[in-house]
Amino acid sequence: MSERKSIHGEWSSRLAFFFAATGSAVGLGNIWKFPYIAGDNGGGAFIIVYLACVVLIGLPILIAEVTLGRRGRESPVNTLRSLALDEGRSRAWVGVGFIGMVSGIIILSFYSVVAGWSLDYLLLSLRGAYAGASADRVSRLFAGLTGNPWRQMLWFTLFLAVSLWFSARGVRAGLERAARIMMPALFVLLLLLVAYALIVGNAADAFAYLFKPDFSRLNGQVLLVAMGHSFFTLSLGIGAMMVYGAYMPNGVSIFRVSVWVAAADTGIALLAGLAIFPLVFAKGLAPAQGPGLIFTTLPLAFGAMPLGSLFGAAFFALLVLAAWTSAVSMIEPTVAWLEERGVGRVRSTLAVGAVVWLLGMVMDFSFNIWSGVAWQGRSLFELFNFVSSDIMLPLGGFLIALFTGWMVSERSLRRELGVSRPLLRLWLLVLRYVTPVGVLLIFLNALGLIRGAL
Ligand code: PFF
Repeated sequence: MSERKSIHGEWSSRLAFFFAATGSAVGLGNIWKFPYIAGDNGGGAFIIVYLACVVLIGLPILIAEVTLGRRGRESPVNTLRSLALDEGRSRAWVGVGFIGMVSGIIILSFYSVVAGWSLDYLLLSLRGAYAGASADRVSRLFAGLTGNPWRQMLWFTLFLAVSLWFSARGVRAGLERAARIMMPALFVLLLLLVAYALIVGNAADAFAYLFKPDFSRLNGQVLLVAMGHSFFTLSLGIGAMMVYGAYMPNGVSIFRVSVWVAAADTGIALLAGLAIFPLVFAKGLAPAQGPGLIFTTLPLAFGAMPLGSLFGAAFFALLVLAAWTSAVSMIEPTVAWLEERGVGRVRSTLAVGAVVWLLGMVMDFSFNIWSGVAWQGRSLFELFNFVSSDIMLPLGGFLIALFTGWMVSERSLRRELGVSRPLLRLWLLVLRYVTPVGVLLIFLNALGLIRGAL
C-alpha cells in the first residue's frame, strides 16, 4: 500500500472511484466514435476484435496507470519522478507525464467542440428542428452549425466553462460529485433510448449487424483501429487514470475495480450501438457514415419517428453528460501538477482552461474561416485529432507499459496490488510483451509505416 498522501484529497469510497473512472472512460468515444467506427469497419467482426483489444491491451494498461498513481499519489509528472527515484531509474521518465499533459489539453480542445455541437443539437431537438426533415435539410442543419464560428464558439465555451467549474471545485466537491450525479443519469437515459430504439426501430437488423460477425471484413487495418480505440475509450496514455488512481483510498482492490470500469465502459458502448443502429436501419440508412453518423444520419432517423424530437433531445443530453465527466479528467493531470507547484486550484484550472479555449477556437475556425487550411489532406481539426489520439496516446501508453513492466520492481507492484503471485505474473507478462507490441503496431500504423503491409 502507498505510504504517501495526496495533497488533493481522495475519493470518498471505492464506488466513488468507480463512478469517476467510468465517467472518464465513458464519453464521446463510446457514444459518438464507437458506433461510427464499428459502422465503418463492418460491425460484428470489428466488435470482437475490439473486445479482445480491451482485455489484452487496454485493461493491463489501465491497471498499470492506477497502480502507479496510487503508489505516487501525485500528478503523473511528479508520480513518475518519485517512482523513478525510488526504483533508481532515470528522471527522464517524467517526460511521459509531460506528453500526457499536452495530449489532454489538445484532446479537450476538439472534444469541447464536438460536445458543443451536442448542446446545440439538444436545443435543435427541443425546437423540433429536424422533425420530419429531408436528408438534405438535416445536412444543411449541420453545415449551418459548423459553418458559423460564433455559434460554435458559444456552445463550446459553455461546455468548457461548466467542465472548468467542476475541476475548480476539486476532487470530492467537483469531480466526484459530477460523476455521482451524471453517471446514473446517463445510464437511465441510455436504457430509455435503447428501449425506444428497439421498439420503434429495426431491432433484428441491428442485432445482426452488431453481433453477427462477418469475418470477411477483418483485416489488419480493422485490428489497428480497434486497438487505437481501446486506448481512447479507456482514457489511457495521458495520465488521466493515473491521477485518478492517486486519489484512490488504500485497501481498494485495483484489479477488481479496473475490471469493472473496463466492463462498464464496454457495456455502455454496446448499449449506445443498440440505441443508434435500430433507428438507422429502420429508415434504411447506411451505417458507415463516418463522424457525421450522429449529427446527420441519426437526426434524420429521429425526425421520422414518433416522439423523435423528445428522444433526440434525450440522446444529445446523454452525449453532453458523458462528455463532461470525461473532460474534467483530461485536464486533471495538468491541474494537479500546477497545484503541486503552489498555484491554487482555481487559478490552475483557469490557466489550463484559457489554453484549451484558445486551441478550441482554432478547432472551431478549422470548420469555417480556416477550412482551407490543410496539411497532408487533413484539416486542422483532423490533424489535432490524429496527432493526439493516434500518436500521443499510444506513445504515452507504450511508455507507461514499459515503465511499469520493466522499471518498477515486482515487489513494489505486488505490495500495491495485493494480488496472488500467479495473477501478478500473468499481468506482468501481458504488460511486458503483448501490450508493447500491440501498441507499437497501432503507432506504426498511425504513422502510415505499415499500412501497405497489412
Ligand atoms: N475516454 C473518453 C471517451 O471515450 O470519450 C475520452 C478520453 C477521456 C480520452 C480522458 C483521454 C482521457 F484522458
